Amino acid sequence: MKSLFAKMAMATALGLGMMSVQLPAHADTKVGLILPYTGTYAALGNAITDGFNMAIEEAGRTDEFSIVTEDTEAKPPVGLAKARKLVLQDKVDVMVGVVSSGVLGAMRDFVHQSQTPLIVANAGNNLATGENCSPYIVRVSFSNGQINRPMGTWMAENGIKTVYTLAPDYSAGHQMIESFSAAFTAAGGEIAGSEFTPFGQTKDFGPYLTNAQSSGADAIFVFYAGGGAINFVKQYGSFDIKTPLFGSGFLTSPLYVAAEGEAAIGVRASLHYIPTLDTPENKAFVDAFMAKHGTMPSEYSVQGYDAGLALMAAVDAGGTDKENIAAALPNVSYVGPRGALEIDPATNNIVQNIYVYDTVMGDDGLTQKLIDTIPSVRDDVAGCQM
Ligand code: BEZ
Repeated sequence: MKSLFAKMAMATALGLGMMSVQLPAHADTKVGLILPYTGTYAALGNAITDGFNMAIEEAGRTDEFSIVTEDTEAKPPVGLAKARKLVLQDKVDVMVGVVSSGVLGAMRDFVHQSQTPLIVANAGNNLATGENCSPYIVRVSFSNGQINRPMGTWMAENGIKTVYTLAPDYSAGHQMIESFSAAFTAAGGEIAGSEFTPFGQTKDFGPYLTNAQSSGADAIFVFYAGGGAINFVKQYGSFDIKTPLFGSGFLTSPLYVAAEGEAAIGVRASLHYIPTLDTPENKAFVDAFMAKHGTMPSEYSVQGYDAGLALMAAVDAGGTDKENIAAALPNVSYVGPRGALEIDPATNNIVQNIYVYDTVMGDDGLTQKLIDTIPSVRDDVAGCQM
């Protein structure tokens, strides 16, 4: 995309009088939405897309942004190939997206070397804002550590002494459980056992649930999202496991908690957004989202929405070319549906509240009831050198 200055220079070079050239108030920005639209995380990709589009539409700025979408299938090699296509062939100014930590890990070096800003709207890969950070990667979603460290401390402080952990066997699963376990044991808890299940392939959680129950742990703590979360929670219910279930809040997300049914009741979890937050910013967002989509927004919708707001703010502050967008993104801060947020320029990761919630049956079905708020959670620099 050409900058406004480039268009003006071209008009002059072509001998056109400046007054005769109709220029838009802002030059176009070409955005590559790089998300899973098929596979176990397809619903997440669609929710992020809806949130992103809603931010741009609400602002009345759809004519300023042209959007190319690519399906990563949540597979690292596919994600990298799609990132290369968006940058080298479509010549996007900025990419938005990535759901899987594995895909983000695979894309990181290409994003950095091609100097194309990437607004991360989900993938929590700790390394992308830690030792593999880049001035071109800015995250408006969460890091895997940011969601789970507070829950490790909270559970130990709330009387849980031993925990059995389960998660899918890929980078996000490992990082979420490592972060949780480090904080839980530092606060005096003990890990009774831990297993990783094949990612996107585990249909039968029975053997894992049996091992968790027979470990005698006070609680089970898991990370599952998308289709894996639905299967896991349903099977937890049908095996009638008595050990209480805790998790990263993706487990009983508003996006799919209805599909999990009553088995989700009583699951307690931590997350950076729940739609029941009692703030004017969130109420306005929930009303607008309900009016447009007829469903409650999820954390994924908010991440897409905030990616759209952050992109518009960066374009307004710096202009539409890659360097300016990358330089302006770390300065973004505002109070949005999830509360106050800012980007930490030392890591380019978001700083935000983490909410502990209980999954309960409300008047309109299953919902997330706020139990506790851990304010302004910020990651350590963890080896990041911009
Ligand atoms: C991840 O791979 O980072 C991830 C995927 C789904 C939900 C949350 C995190």
